[in-house]
Amino acid sequence: MKIFSIETSCDETSAAIVGVSRGKVEILSNVVSSQIEIHKKYGGVVPEVAARHHVKNILPVIDEAFAKAKVKPAQIDFISVTAGPGLITSLMVGVETAKTLSYVWRKPLLAVNHMYAHIAANFIEPIKFPALALIVSGGHTELILLKSHQRFEKIGQTIDDAAGEAFDKVAKLLDLGYPGGPIVSAQAEKFQESGLESDLELPRPMVTSPNFNFSFSGLKTAVLYKVNKMKPAEKKKRTPEICFEFQEAVVDVLSKKTAKAAKKFGAKTIMLAGGVAANKALRQRMGKVADDLEINFLTPPFSLCTDNAGMIAVASHFLLQKKKPQLNGWKKIKANPNWEL
Ligand code: KG4
Ligand code: ZN
Repeated sequence: MKIFSIETSCDETSAAIVGVSRGKVEILSNVVSSQIEIHKKYGGVVPEVAARHHVKNILPVIDEAFAKAKVKPAQIDFISVTAGPGLITSLMVGVETAKTLSYVWRKPLLAVNHMYAHIAANFIEPIKFPALALIVSGGHTELILLKSHQRFEKIGQTIDDAAGEAFDKVAKLLDLGYPGGPIVSAQAEKFQESGLESDLELPRPMVTSPNFNFSFSGLKTAVLYKVNKMKPAEKKKRTPEICFEFQEAVVDVLSKKTAKAAKKFGAKTIMLAGGVAANKALRQRMGKVADDLEINFLTPPFSLCTDNAGMIAVASHFLLQKKKPQLNGWKKIKANPNWEL
């Protein structure tokens, strides 16, 4: 079986093809056209600009995905597309393209939840259930308990900013550029390599709260207060240290709460997913949490952490085991920017 997928929920235009043979999923192509360079100058994603670039990029990206996979549209069994959550104007480009192709190519279309797909980026490996997934992206921070590939429940989420959003905002207040995550983590690494000690104390919001929710807005404000007290030269000099201490606080809270949930629910696997899963310090700490609990730890390769259609295609394979879409099902599919997992 072959599945062709499209992802346009934010600022990445992506198309992918996976092949499934004897239950094993293989990514044949996963083309991502990122708009990061375009949105950089605005310090964040501008929805209308993103949509315009999706329109411009989508057909070349699709062509490239087919060419790289050496597959023809006629060989595809199903099409799938991210229908939400995300930016409505961005989602619509992918969804309308997928609906058109479903009609023209006469291939059934499946709508995929973007957050489920972030988790599914781990499903290439066999999973021991129950499994606990921590999704950390620019828009979401969620703890999901999975009983099987298809049965899951949300047990916690951020009550304000997402973890990735906090990285982006801290980068902005330190004048580091966009997206903040990779820059902040590179600066943090620089400080760690220096072997210097820091006396900068930052809070660990909600780390001892009796639930599995998170909060990162206060942490960002704590960084802002510290930075506001510094003169420009000191701010510049201490930027790697601030990044390191901020990252430590985020990693601390995420890993401690995940460990607590894993113990409570008897998880046999911890999975890390979403753009912030590309963070090395977080990957290492979560790996240690799993080691200490003697359970499995999974996190996707870097290329499957940030937004990409490969994860949508992998997710589709598992969703198709539950329900096969009809040939004219495209008529009912709509972009849903607030689609909750
Ligand atoms: O999942 P994603 O690509 O898009 C959303 O669905 O939001 O995640 C993007 C987020 C951004 O906030 C970005 O700063 C963050 O992931 N990110 C990182 C790293 N790489 C990307 N955060 C921390 N460390 C990284 N290495
Ligand atoms: Zn995402």
